[in-house]
Formats: sequence, structure tokens, C-alpha cells
Amino acid sequence: MLTIEGIEKSAYKELETVKDRDGLEALRVKYLGRKGDLTGVLRSLKDLSEKERKTLGSRANKFKDKLQEKIDAKFLEFGEGDGVSNIDITRPGHKPSRGYLHLLSKTEQEIRKIFLSMNFSVVEGPELETEFYAFNALNLPEWHPAREAWDTFWIKPKKGGERMLLRPHTSPVQIRYMEEHQPPFQIIVPGRCFRYEATDATHDTNFYQFEGLMVGRDVNLANFKYIVEKFFEEFFKGQKVEARFRPSHFPFVEPGVEVDMRFKGGDWLEMMGAGMVHPKVFEAAHYDPRDFQGFAFGMGIERLAMIKYKIPDIRMFYSGDLRFIKQF
Ligand code: PHE
Repeated sequence: MLTIEGIEKSAYKELETVKDRDGLEALRVKYLGRKGDLTGVLRSLKDLSEKERKTLGSRANKFKDKLQEKIDAKFLEFGEGDGVSNIDITRPGHKPSRGYLHLLSKTEQEIRKIFLSMNFSVVEGPELETEFYAFNALNLPEWHPAREAWDTFWIKPKKGGERMLLRPHTSPVQIRYMEEHQPPFQIIVPGRCFRYEATDATHDTNFYQFEGLMVGRDVNLANFKYIVEKFFEEFFKGQKVEARFRPSHFPFVEPGVEVDMRFKGGDWLEMMGAGMVHPKVFEAAHYDPRDFQGFAFGMGIERLAMIKYKIPDIRMFYSGDLRFIKQF
């Protein structure tokens, strides 16, 4: 019986001596054709044990590809032979399909651009976070009931290691950034976040946020209001947008507010949480809270895109449905 090794050897040898297109075609049929030697070997595989079948099968397939490649190359070398081109130059070409950005990436880029134009820097942080940065340093000690609002996915800790989790918000990057920089500064932090919660039209276990943080000697909420209104106006392409603050509570800000916006004549839409950075947060980052003050906010990227592009359900972003994705 023919072995793979034997076939390989003689195929390569014959390939070297082949002189013209006809010879090459004959060789192709002999080895790769439907009744060819290799097909014979592949057919006989069914009688082998599973292990043998696997190794031999993969070897035979590799050989098949390689030989086909070599034969193709040789055909090119020999040229068209009879001098008559068999290429139909009138045949329409294949339209190359171009890649493009997902709407969420596009939205994030728009956000970055607007804040960069207002002299903010763009910073990123890890999606897998430590308990310290995600909670404790943000004035959310273990016993704090507000932790429940940011319930997330915990990772099994390494022996003796710190507890880790998928970050439920981008706020941990506030601490990471302040540990390494001194005010004044203004940053935004776009990124992916995770929450352990039921999925519906406006919630998903996976979503995108961006954090804002501006710190200096006298940065205040009035500055913040100006910045968000400017941001909304840019993002919503020059439409006049009004923002309002409602009292709210986040352990890492004091006072804390909920920010709503509305277009001229429209309803108020709840957009984000924000507030003045809590002294305890400054302390966790080794700042003296008597030296600095500033505002922080956290906004959902999907929410912005949903309003701007009139998308009714957050799950559409992650459906992978091209009919949705290709519209933007
Ligand atoms: N991190 C908060 C959230 O995800 C939002 C927030 C950020 C609130 C900064 C206040 C200040 O809900």
C-alpha cells in the first residue's frame, strides 16, 4: 500500500522534472485528483484507530495544501502556454469589503475628540480591578450598603492575594491617576465596565462608561456645569442643550448630583452621576483635601449613543447583528 511518506517523496521528485503544463496537469491529477494517490490514502483512514487517523489525516492534509501551492506556482512559471489568455477582463471584480468602527467605538472617539479640544487628557485603566481601587479608596468600605449598587463579578483570589473584580465603574481610575499626578489636571477615562444585574432594554452586564475628573485649587460645580453643557452641545451637533443638577448620593463625592439634560422643548433625560470629589477620596490618593478640590462624573457611553442615534435597546450594541451594525 502507498504510504504518505512515499507519496510525498515521489510527488516532489516528479514536480522537479516536470517540463510543461500538460505534464503538470497530469501530475496534479495523479496526486491530488479524485482518483489520485492521496485521495486513496485519505479514504483508507477510516480503517485506522482514532489516534492514527488524526496524525495521519493532518499530515496528509498539510501535504495536500503544500503540493497544491507548489503546483500553482509552477503553473504560473510556465505561463499561459498556448499564448491565449483565459482571463476574462470584462468580468466585474470583487468589491473588497471594508471594515469600519462599531457604533460604540465611533461614539467613544467623538467623546474623546470633544474633551481633547477642551484640554482634557484621555486616560485608561484596567478592567480587572482590585477591591481597593474599585471600592475602599472610593469611600466604599466593605460594610457599606451602597456597594450593592455596584455589585459585580468577583474573581477567585490567588492564595493570600487581594480580592479582584471586574470593575463596575471607571471611578477606580480617579485614584490610580491621582496617585501618580499632581493637580491641576483634567482627564476623562473611557472604558468597559461590568455589573451583576438583570439585562433589559437599558441595562446590560457589560457596558461602557467614561469618567471625568478635574482637580485644582478652586475647581467648582459651576465649572462642571459649563463643561457638560458644552460637551452635550458638541456631541449633539450644535443643538442647544440645558443641564440641571438634582441632589443624589455617591460615597465618593460630596455633594453628589444626578445630571439631567434636555433639548429645547424636550423632556429631561437622566444622564450621569457627578459631584465634588470627597475628601476621603483625596486622602486615599495621598492628597491633602485642604489643598485641592474638584469635580468628578461618570456617564454611560451607550446612553449617549442611544439618544443621539435613536436606538431603543442597549442589547442591540452587543447582538452582533450586522443589519444593526452596518447602519452607522
Ligand atoms: N461611578 C458612578 C457610577 O458608575 C458615577 C459617578 C462618577 C458618580 C463620578 C459621581 C462621580 O454610577
